[in-house]
Amino acid sequence: MAVIPVALAGREYDVRVEPGLLRNVAQHCAPFLRKTAVPIITDENVARYWRAPVSASLAAAGFEPKWHILPAGERAKSWEELSKTIEWLLTEGVERGDHILALGGGVVGDLTGFAASILKRGCGFVQLPTTLLAQVDSSVGGKTAINTPAGKNLVGAFHQPALVLADPDALDTLPVRERRAGYAEVIKYGILGDADFFVWCEANGSKVVSGDKSAIEHAVARSVTAKARIVAEDERETTGVRALLNLGHTFGHALEAQTGFSSRLLHGEGVALGMVLATRYSTRRGLISAADADRVTNAIAAADLATEISDLALNCTGTQLADHMLHDKKMDAGTLPFILLRGVGAAFLDRNVALSDVAVFLDEQLAK
Ligand code: NAD
Ligand code: GLY
Repeated sequence: MAVIPVALAGREYDVRVEPGLLRNVAQHCAPFLRKTAVPIITDENVARYWRAPVSASLAAAGFEPKWHILPAGERAKSWEELSKTIEWLLTEGVERGDHILALGGGVVGDLTGFAASILKRGCGFVQLPTTLLAQVDSSVGGKTAINTPAGKNLVGAFHQPALVLADPDALDTLPVRERRAGYAEVIKYGILGDADFFVWCEANGSKVVSGDKSAIEHAVARSVTAKARIVAEDERETTGVRALLNLGHTFGHALEAQTGFSSRLLHGEGVALGMVLATRYSTRRGLISAADADRVTNAIAAADLATEISDLALNCTGTQLADHMLHDKKMDAGTLPFILLRGVGAAFLDRNVALSDVAVFLDEQLAK
């Protein structure tokens, strides 16, 4: 089993990565459970496959699982579901010293983490991530949030979990499209800061997407190691180090906005194409060679992720896409920080990108 510490003084925790963790969840969570009743939040899809084995493990250890089931998908990250969840936790008598289990993808983790951050001014929670995206990204680092009509993730808190159990077996039941989208966040760690891991992804990416257990275990452990290091260095995204994790997200966000944040384009699919665009834009600025940019495009294409905006059949201009960026929550005092590349494994934050230049670049990409 890989055990990756997240070294935050006073809030440190481990991320454990190994097949079988969910079927033995009681053994790993017991040190955090003070009472017989154990509150677990999940969504309706995850419950279908994982409620029974998780309940069985807890019951065999003498615990009584208490379930709160959210609707599946982004709509659960709402004021309404947050309010229902908080009321349920209060009815269950959850106290500040207790821990809530979050069993699911990034939606369940983000909502449960935010609920835990405000319940009785903050109680504990354990992340049991069941999507590849959640295992390599959202369950680690303590960002929690809900959406509002004004935009995604606009209300939230930094609240670190007490433990993360990333079980590759959970991905057996995940639709392949979701695994592929999660893989975008895996290869991101190679592109932004680890050229050796990028080479590993070039050779093994398709195994991760197709569900090969040992490839997934390696990819998750390596990704979490990278994220843990970044979070330990810049927990609250104030120094520019954690911002590197936004590689591909500014372009991706514009594409998600243009497709109405719908199932037409999953977040990871937008990030994958966004990374291709950020790399090509870096080439246009004379920062990274065309050969390296092609390597990034080819590695993403090898996972069957879209690499051309024309693949999305959007009916828009570069200016319209760039306008979505004005509403990006990373806007800071009138400028939008972009993550660009000087090479594979060498991302940096550039605060001097003119959106008018990005619009011209996007028009060129749309015309391809
Ligand atoms: P998700 O939680 O909606 O899960 C995707 C789909 O897969 C859902 O339909 C879900 O029901 C289903 N599912 C989950 N696990 C399953 C399993 N094992 N078997 C079968 N079906 C399963 O989406 P996601 O991609 O995991 O997360 C996206 C969310 O994460 C977004 O809201 C995003 O804002 C957030 N996010 C947060 C952070 C952070 O740092 N907190 C980072 C990245 C993304
Ligand atoms: N997903 C970006 C971050 O955790 O900072």
